[in-house]
Amino acid sequence: TPPDTLDLNNIQGDILSGLPKKTQLYIFFQIVDVTKFRADLARFVPLVKTVAGVLKDRQLIKEHKKKGHKTLIPLVGVNIAFSHLGFVKLGIDDSSLGPATDPFIIGQFKDSVQNLGDAGTQTASGLVPNWDPAFVQPLHGVILISGESHETLQKKKLEIECIFGVRTIQPSIFQVTSLRGDVRPGAESGHEHFGFLDGISNPAVIGFDKDPNPGPVSVNPGVIVTGYTGDPSQATRASWAVDGSFLVFRYLFQQVPEFNDFLRKNPIAFQDLTPEEGSDLLGARLVGRWKSGAPIDLSPFKNDPVLAVDPKRNNDFKFEGEINSQFRCPFAAHVRKTNPRNDLEALPPPVGPISVQKNRIMRRGVQFGPELTKEEKKTAKTECGRGLLFACYQTSITNGFQFLQKTWANNPKFPIGQTQPEEPGLDPLIGQGVRSMSGTDPNNEEKVISGMPDFIIPRGGEYFFSPSLKGLRETLAS
Ligand code: HEM
Repeated sequence: TPPDTLDLNNIQGDILSGLPKKTQLYIFFQIVDVTKFRADLARFVPLVKTVAGVLKDRQLIKEHKKKGHKTLIPLVGVNIAFSHLGFVKLGIDDSSLGPATDPFIIGQFKDSVQNLGDAGTQTASGLVPNWDPAFVQPLHGVILISGESHETLQKKKLEIECIFGVRTIQPSIFQVTSLRGDVRPGAESGHEHFGFLDGISNPAVIGFDKDPNPGPVSVNPGVIVTGYTGDPSQATRASWAVDGSFLVFRYLFQQVPEFNDFLRKNPIAFQDLTPEEGSDLLGARLVGRWKSGAPIDLSPFKNDPVLAVDPKRNNDFKFEGEINSQFRCPFAAHVRKTNPRNDLEALPPPVGPISVQKNRIMRRGVQFGPELTKEEKKTAKTECGRGLLFACYQTSITNGFQFLQKTWANNPKFPIGQTQPEEPGLDPLIGQGVRSMSGTDPNNEEKVISGMPDFIIPRGGEYFFSPSLKGLRETLAS
């Protein structure tokens, strides 16, 4: 059968193509005047950038670069998404987005301590996560603004604030908080705060990515966009809920000086590596890639900067022949935990093979916070908050983000099906719980590192749904 035809003029741009960004604002809001909000939204919708719009912008950026311009072309991309509480506030029946037990309906505040493993505090009203106070309040929606400069973002933010009457006597929204993310400067551009190149492995989507690079098998469009083949609720989505996607947002702090200190104090003694190289190897084995982006499954003991930047090779690995071994890459390494490839897809019967297609997510994060200060480098202690505004899209949070965090990253026994005696342990970056893992030492795969500090600390988040343009115009706005 021919692939589904995706309506690129109806799908919000961040979902399939990623809003181009050097800097990005997330504005979290509550709706305070429903009637006015619905009218204001009708004037806001023309600002929303679709996938087709992003593709045009990317073409403009390419032509601008080709002409030899050194400055960036001023471009801005706006998207919007709503939480379950937002739909309730608007009086919109969102039951086709999920049953009462769905994480989207429950909300991330409760899900964080019930399923994601976030640390919490017992209070009179139950266990609550240790989050930033802004995320303890109900959030109804989020507006994303991406652009090439702070100036461009600020201008667009003002325009949006005027539409919703913010700072007038009759606002329709209240801004609970806003967070700004910035791509890191210079050579660190594209690298997250621990220093590793990010954004390499995202699923190629059938019917959208025409010429995918070698790597994991392409996913059906309905894994990412509602209403298409692969959407587990395809048959029951209300028409306004088609051409959308669930946006998971997480406010993740990274303890960078502490992470660096941990690597420095635990270098892997292997072959003739210097202590510094042994620390780099440990970092690479926690992530599954070198800082350059080169996958350790292909280049296990030495960085390969050429492989790192070759899109035809840098995602073309499957932990082949490693189903029972963590010599090249630890089972718990972040990229192996969150996309186990052959660990499930090549499992022999009767357990396998198990397809991971339904568990893939489209990641769209951006870094926040400053570079390390001299003081932080000296004391190995975080003084300034920094980390990742983690965002990802999928049609099922249960199969996507929540599954990756709960069933894979936090589960010391995962990946399953290997015959080695040692337990893989937790994902050393995002795993929540008793933080130990095996496999960091290629000389002794069974050796366990225990008591690993928390390198990543969740401080907030919410589950949102990013509707189609038609849904925004015809069902949400008035
Ligand atoms: C890949 C860092 C949070 C899921 C990666 C990569 C890095 C990284 C460096 C390798 C680059 C790439 O393959 O594109 C981080 C950091 C995080 C974080 C620093 C937090 C501050 C998360 C969370 C999840 C997640 C919360 C989901 C629960 C993934 C997935 C991949 C990935 C699915 C791609 C794996 C693959 O297909 O090979 N991450 N990550 N990450 N991460 Fe994370």
